[in-house]
Amino acid sequence: MNPMPSSADLTGEQFAEISRLIYRQCGIHLKAGKEALVRARLAKRLRALSLGSIDAYMDLVGSDAGRGEVGLLVDAMTTNKTNFFRERAHFDFLAQTVLAELPARHLRFWSAACSSGEEPYTLAMVLREALADIDGRDFLILATDISQRMLEVARRGVYSAERVREVPVELRNRYFERTGRGSGEMQIKSSIRDLVRLGWLNLMQSWAMKGPFHVIFCRNVMIYFDRPTQQKLVNRFWDILAPGGFLFVGHSEGLSAIKHEFRYVKPAVYRKR
Ligand SMILES: C[S@@+](CC[C@H](N)C(=O)[O-])C[C@H]1O[C@@H](n2cnc3c(N)ncnc32)[C@H](O)[C@@H]1O
Repeated sequence: MNPMPSSADLTGEQFAEISRLIYRQCGIHLKAGKEALVRARLAKRLRALSLGSIDAYMDLVGSDAGRGEVGLLVDAMTTNKTNFFRERAHFDFLAQTVLAELPARHLRFWSAACSSGEEPYTLAMVLREALADIDGRDFLILATDISQRMLEVARRGVYSAERVREVPVELRNRYFERTGRGSGEMQIKSSIRDLVRLGWLNLMQSWAMKGPFHVIFCRNVMIYFDRPTQQKLVNRFWDILAPGGFLFVGHSEGLSAIKHEFRYVKPAVYRKR
């Protein structure tokens, strides 16, 4: 068995090379100080491929044979932390205020970095609760991410009892069922899954869909991008939002350093005038 590389095995040059590659591929800006994180995530890829050194790995990634590995490297470098009802105030505001401002029949939502699905499924639960006639509407939540690993979790829709505990008990009882496996793991029901369309999308590349969207959630991903990348992305969100549409960002990601024409609504919520 190959020895696992230690942090000392990741040279400054290798770190810089990986940072450039990741930035080019997905906009994630791996700042100085992230060496230990990068090394730990690289170690997983090395183990999966039974490679003994980062140099050997970099040779593979740079070769024709390693083209598929680049996607797996990007996936490994993403931070996927999420949970049901994360930043709950957004969902309350959506149900209590935003919905009344949106068109009645045709509604398009986009969870633009959905990770393992908790965000779009929370949206779907909240919207099903708020709109009694949701099945009679032309309604869809598009949920995309660059991580195939996370999309796979979202597709299964199976979560540990601990994760599901974040969901208010009434909604938990209505929209989850026990799988019968594991210690209380639960699967989200089709009445919620059917409102969500999952797909792979790299925010840095061209987008296949035309929109327009009425609501975009892009939360807790722009923190990983540098200012120019954030600027471009916010401009693209503006273009793909319907007039009067809403952009929700993470609470630590206000748009104060970005040039934009959105109207500030409340912390981390913006509206296309
Ligand atoms: C911290 S999670 C946030 C999940 C969810 N929006 C939330 O707030 O809980 C960030 C997600 O952004 C995704 N991501 C990072 N760069 C991306 C890119 N260029 N295109 C699409 N998704 C990206 C990661 O894969 C990860 O799942």
